[in-house]
Amino acid sequence: MPSCHDHLQPVDLTRPSAVSILSGEHRVILQVITCLERMAAQATREGRIPAGYASSALEVIRTFADRCHHGKEEDILFPALEAQVPGFGPTAVMREEHVIGRQYVASMYTAISAADVGGFVAAATGYTELLRGHIAKEDDILFRMAQAMLSSAQDAAILAAYRAVEHDDMGDGTHERLLGVADSIADVYGVERASNDPQTFALLTAVCGCHTEKA
Ligand SMILES: [Fe+2]
Ligand SMILES: [Fe+2]
Repeated sequence: MPSCHDHLQPVDLTRPSAVSILSGEHRVILQVITCLERMAAQATREGRIPAGYASSALEVIRTFADRCHHGKEEDILFPALEAQVPGFGPTAVMREEHVIGRQYVASMYTAISAADVGGFVAAATGYTELLRGHIAKEDDILFRMAQAMLSSAQDAAILAAYRAVEHDDMGDGTHERLLGVADSIADVYGVERASNDPQTFALLTAVCGCHTEKA
């Protein structure tokens, strides 16, 4: 059955924009949660949590996915949409899911500290299911709507604000360090690096710039 957003164009990933930057970051978040799923399967199989790798994955999730990525959404993109449509519903749902995600992350940390295999597997499973659905809703619905709603001037202003988050709030080099951690875990768990895709790599480095600064 066709739904109300089917007439909206998919996010244009060929150039940096307010939504394509975030869609590129989604590929890295999916990479990390795929690793987390494999860690949960490993914990079930072996009866112990791979605590070192799980803690590294959670550091990427808490800093890159939550503070940096969800921060850009909650503090920059969503307010721009809410300013245009007071009471805008889709962003309210996304904000609620971010809160639920933080509860799962806290539960995973607690489970690792307590060596609670069952608690870790339950929280990791809940988190990965939530995030996969959340990312699909953003990429397929909300970001398509945003792409149609934002003028090119608004888009440029949002990109400038993202740049400020990377450099001023996160600190230069943080983004690149966390991508390195995400890739090293991916190599251990046999998950493809999101940055192997040239289009994703271009989006990941468009705002941050740390890769190009090093070159
Ligand atoms: Fe989100
Ligand atoms: Fe997102």
